[in-house]
Amino acid sequence: MSINLNGYHVLITGGSSGMGYEMAKTLLSHGATVIIAALNKAKLEKAYATLNSKENDVYIVQMDVTDEQSIMKVASWYREKFTHLDLLINNAGVGGNIKGLETYRHTGHFYDIPTSAFKLIFDTNVLGYFLVTKAFSPLMVEQGKGQIIYTSTSTETMTRTGMIPYGPSKSAAEAMTTVLSQELQDKGIMVNVICPGGFTRTNLATPDMIEFFKKNNMPILEPTILNKPILFLASKDAQKITGEKFIGNKFDRYLEKHQINFED
Ligand SMILES: NC(=O)c1ccc[n+]([C@@H]2O[C@H](COP(=O)([O-])OP(=O)(O)OC[C@H]3O[C@@H](n4cnc5c(N)ncnc54)[C@H](OP(=O)(O)O)[C@@H]3O)[C@@H](O)[C@H]2O)c1
Repeated sequence: MSINLNGYHVLITGGSSGMGYEMAKTLLSHGATVIIAALNKAKLEKAYATLNSKENDVYIVQMDVTDEQSIMKVASWYREKFTHLDLLINNAGVGGNIKGLETYRHTGHFYDIPTSAFKLIFDTNVLGYFLVTKAFSPLMVEQGKGQIIYTSTSTETMTRTGMIPYGPSKSAAEAMTTVLSQELQDKGIMVNVICPGGFTRTNLATPDMIEFFKKNNMPILEPTILNKPILFLASKDAQKITGEKFIGNKFDRYLEKHQINFED
């Protein structure tokens, strides 16, 4: 194990499944204290049961990223329990997997999208990112350091037909990341984006989408795809990087291009 994250505190939203779960697992295995926040209690408990061990320092907390009160409750709990926060990963997200989008997935007509589904996706992927960052960044400002990450998607997905409202929600969140990176840089806080670089086998990927990808021989990435980029961002090598986007399946190319010798 080359990176030692002992004493390093991470709060990850949506860490109860998919890429968030895998990132939590790898950060824990390198010694970090990881607090997983998500909505569904049973899923959180299941994640805890598989991650908790004598060597690991993992916590779970129920939090709805679309609900400011729920977030503020967790922020107060966090301040009472922990002294600092090194890394906030805004990873919670919803997309084509939510109820109400079945007809749109079939017809591809944007007018088949129920307004409630549009709102839920923007509330989770954009407003949620804003509310969680608003609640936890003051602690980082007090510390004079920290790192904020947003899990996004590829540029192509943002603008491809059939991607309303998921694609536009991710592009709004990325624009916010660029603004935040500029506003927080002189406070010692770095803000970056990560994305897998393609369709990834998680709960967000519905069985019909997986079937479509398989039928058309299109690649499906595994949920561990962000483990190396997140370890790199948590490492000392990355403490001055801000306003950048790291793509999981192109990450080795990034390291090569910048001549970075990174062992995870
Ligand atoms: N899978 C892909 O192909 C793909 C591609 C590009 C980007 N992404 C992004 O990757 C991120 C992780 O998603 P995933 O693919 O790993 O899917 P996932 O397994 O469904 O994970 C999503 C996580 O978000 C949580 N979440 C959803 N709504 C929430 C809310 N209101 N409050 C708190 N937590 C909430 C879920 O917890 P609960 O189950 O408790 O709600 C779950 O832990 C998302 O931001 C997604 O947009 C995914």
